[in-house]
Amino acid sequence: MRIPNSVIEDIRYRCDIEDVIGSYITIKRAGTNLKGLCPFHSEKTPSFVVYKDTQSYYCFGCGAGGDVINFIMRQENMDYVSAVEFLAKRAGITLPDLSENAHEGPGRARILKMNVDAAKYFRSMLFDENIGAPARQYLIGNRALSSSAVKHFGLGYAPTGWNGLRNHLSSLGYTYEEMIAGNLCNKGDKSVYDSFRGRVIFPIIDVSGNIVAFGGRVLDDSKPKYLNSSDTPAFKKSKNLFALNYARNSGEDTFIICEGYMDVIALHAAGFTNAVATLGTAITSEHARIIKRYVSKVILAYDGDEAGRKASDRAIGFLTEAGVDSRILVMKGAKDPDEFIKKFGREEFKKLLDEGRSRFDYIIETTCAKYNMKNPDDKIKAAHEIISEIAKVYSKVERDIYISKTAAFLELDTKSIRYDVEAAIRKRNNAEKKQHSEELIRMTTGISDRVNPDYAKRPKTARIEEDVLGILMNHPEYISLDVKDKPLADEDFFTDLGKRLFRFIKSEHEADGFSTGSLSSTFNHDEVSRAMSMYHARRAFSNDSGAYVTCGEYLRREISKTSAVSLEDIISAKRQGK
Ligand code: UTP
Ligand code: MN
Repeated sequence: MRIPNSVIEDIRYRCDIEDVIGSYITIKRAGTNLKGLCPFHSEKTPSFVVYKDTQSYYCFGCGAGGDVINFIMRQENMDYVSAVEFLAKRAGITLPDLSENAHEGPGRARILKMNVDAAKYFRSMLFDENIGAPARQYLIGNRALSSSAVKHFGLGYAPTGWNGLRNHLSSLGYTYEEMIAGNLCNKGDKSVYDSFRGRVIFPIIDVSGNIVAFGGRVLDDSKPKYLNSSDTPAFKKSKNLFALNYARNSGEDTFIICEGYMDVIALHAAGFTNAVATLGTAITSEHARIIKRYVSKVILAYDGDEAGRKASDRAIGFLTEAGVDSRILVMKGAKDPDEFIKKFGREEFKKLLDEGRSRFDYIIETTCAKYNMKNPDDKIKAAHEIISEIAKVYSKVERDIYISKTAAFLELDTKSIRYDVEAAIRKRNNAEKKQHSEELIRMTTGISDRVNPDYAKRPKTARIEEDVLGILMNHPEYISLDVKDKPLADEDFFTDLGKRLFRFIKSEHEADGFSTGSLSSTFNHDEVSRAMSMYHARRAFSNDSGAYVTCGEYLRREISKTSAVSLEDIISAKRQGK
């Protein structure tokens, strides 16, 4: 799907990069540019630069770079189209319907629109005096929700008939194909029928405010208890969290993660607006990364049963990996937050939150539970495991607390534990240093280049190629200039990335103009970063077309020298010290 350049330019013009980035991180003026701590890697001194004049950013620490759209893609973990939508909404721009793409089936925009109509239908059914009565009785009677909570979450009701929604959407001009693609209907042997029947409906809303999917619960004990939309062009389970649209604005640095819709709604209604839930799946690493964008801590409020504990363990693994500190909430006398609040009230829940077990206590307990602590060998094994966990903790103060806790718990000497922890840290640091210097050697010799693997085959030629592309991105109009006797073409480039960039610049330029903002539609984050570094490096010397033509001629001459040197040749030459 191609978004017209005029739309992209409009968005970039109205979403000033300084405002947008400034709403996520603190950036301060440094000369003509702005500087701050990079949100994409951890650092203590700022190397993240925002360029007002070109409306772009570049991190000299990790190499991340791009324009405002690319920034949102990384920061909000969105794909290109969602990031464009997100910014358009922010700037109050109405996007053209991007989905009228004949062969690809209904696109995202069409499904989102259909979802809005479906949600309106479900809501009108819930509030229909007769039809909605059992569902209202269930939500407001049995589940004790206030009618404002029902409205806040846009809940609805899918009546028991087979075709209510289908016929309604039909009358609004949606096709069966679209309803099926959006998971609102299923295709049976003879007919197309509603997916949700006789269920209360929970709309799932993303951070841009789009209704991306639905969940539905039966009113009684029949099975399956919950139905969730499967993935559609507008929805990915592994990337969405229920109520994230509200929780992200809760102003808290912690999310409460629950298992289900009803828990989240009960928590929000009780004032805990930082509660979210996954949608009928376990937490994925993608969820963890999304969570990290908003908070640095989470409290897991899963059911206390075996399944809930297993789910907590897995979740903690992903969250820790993403750098989110996790704690587990232990509820006594109730199986989930919804039940707990009903039984004991919000004040008691608040107390629980405050005293929730730290992740570390949990590690000690679960590690010790695995071993027979009366057996000295087992005890040593447990101590080793715990010590390696302590060694992962960044702060020395925090480590000291854990060391004393462990010593007390295992009845061991504090000094010896501290000694072991320090040894583990030293060992790890040495390994990292070694790895880092190897990486540096690879980078400076150009032997390993993940983003542009062809670079190493002919580094000299690749460098000129980058010059040409860098100038072109600054001045796409040069693309039609003659280099010697004809303009540059595909065959004048030799790395795969270089060829693809050239082709992209050319086709964009011929369509309605190239802008670096559209790179993210086609290239991955690393490739965009590389392209942006080419672009920035050649900004200064690209004011006349002479430089372009000279570099172009040089590039063509280099390419025409047929002897491509292989990577193996380079390595063996280096080994022999040539
Ligand atoms: P639970 O069975 O723990 O339900 O499922 P709950 O949230 O306590 O629901 P109530 O209180 O009985 O209404 C937790 C979550 O697991 C998913 C749903 O997302 C649910 O919210 N689930 C559960 C399904 O996807 N399908 C099911 O059949 C059951
Ligand atoms: Mn429940």
